[in-house]
Amino acid sequence: MPASPPAEEPALHVEELDVTYGRALSALRSVSLTVPHGGVVALLGANGAGKSTLLRAVSGTLRLHRGAITGGRIRYGDTALDGRDPVAAVRAGVVQVPEGRRVFAGLTVDENLRSGGLGLGRRSPALVRAGRERVFAFFPRLAERTHQAAGLLSGGEQQMLAIGRALMAAPRLLLLDEPSLGLAPLMVHRIAEVVREINAQGTAVLLVEQNAGMALSLADHAHVLEVGEVRLSGPAGELARTDAVRRLYLGEETGTDRPSDAGQGVA
Ligand SMILES: Nc1ncnc2c1ncn2[C@@H]1O[C@H](COP(=O)(O)OP(=O)(O)OP(=O)(O)O)[C@@H](O)[C@H]1O
Ligand SMILES: [Mg+2]
Repeated sequence: MPASPPAEEPALHVEELDVTYGRALSALRSVSLTVPHGGVVALLGANGAGKSTLLRAVSGTLRLHRGAITGGRIRYGDTALDGRDPVAAVRAGVVQVPEGRRVFAGLTVDENLRSGGLGLGRRSPALVRAGRERVFAFFPRLAERTHQAAGLLSGGEQQMLAIGRALMAAPRLLLLDEPSLGLAPLMVHRIAEVVREINAQGTAVLLVEQNAGMALSLADHAHVLEVGEVRLSGPAGELARTDAVRRLYLGEETGTDRPSDAGQGVA
């Protein structure tokens, strides 16, 4: 019997995506981007640019925010994602760590972690055990606090838990919404290391960050969103050298002062 060819690892394709909240508010217009298998892609942009909206559309949580995809499409491999079905996204291997952590404050660390595998149907105790061990290897601090209420953890520990909970679903694509927000530099550094390790273990990452320095140091490719549209795209190292990114997102002096100096991108 001939051996079957290895299954191709999927990539995320967002194609000309339009998203609207309610009847009127257009949050994304014709946004296209790709996250290749095993890649790290960063999404930068000011407050309100539409970064979280894009992650919600991919993870199927858009409807929970009364948003809808009104144009374009999202594919993860052969699976069409429609912005309305988080369980379908998780089953396809796409898992989001939401903005602001959103751990279940009244549940213990362990209960929070276990909730991360839900939606995958019945999971074997062995799989759950392996998932917890993987999380504790990344975040030993969580292992010491399994029975503590999540609401009593520090901000950094809650971010660890939010990432750990997502890892319990064994994602192939992890969507991270501002993991560094509000954390001290040492913790930001640790989170960056963990993202790098998770990626090295084969999980692709779509990383939304206000901390452009961190995001561009982790990413292969990056996009800048401005009021719902992709304004700049390119290899992370090249974007980090453009005047607009240096000035607006890395806080550097560049000698120019108009965002339009950035032109149409470097890719
Ligand atoms: N549930 C909602 N209902 C209506 N409008 C919304 C909703 N969520 C977001 N918006 C609007 O959509 C636009 C994009 O918001 P989004 O949260 O995606 O931005 P963001 O880039 O993630 O910003 P931030 O950096 O502040 O998190 C904004 O104008 C915002 O006010
Ligand atoms: Mg956001």
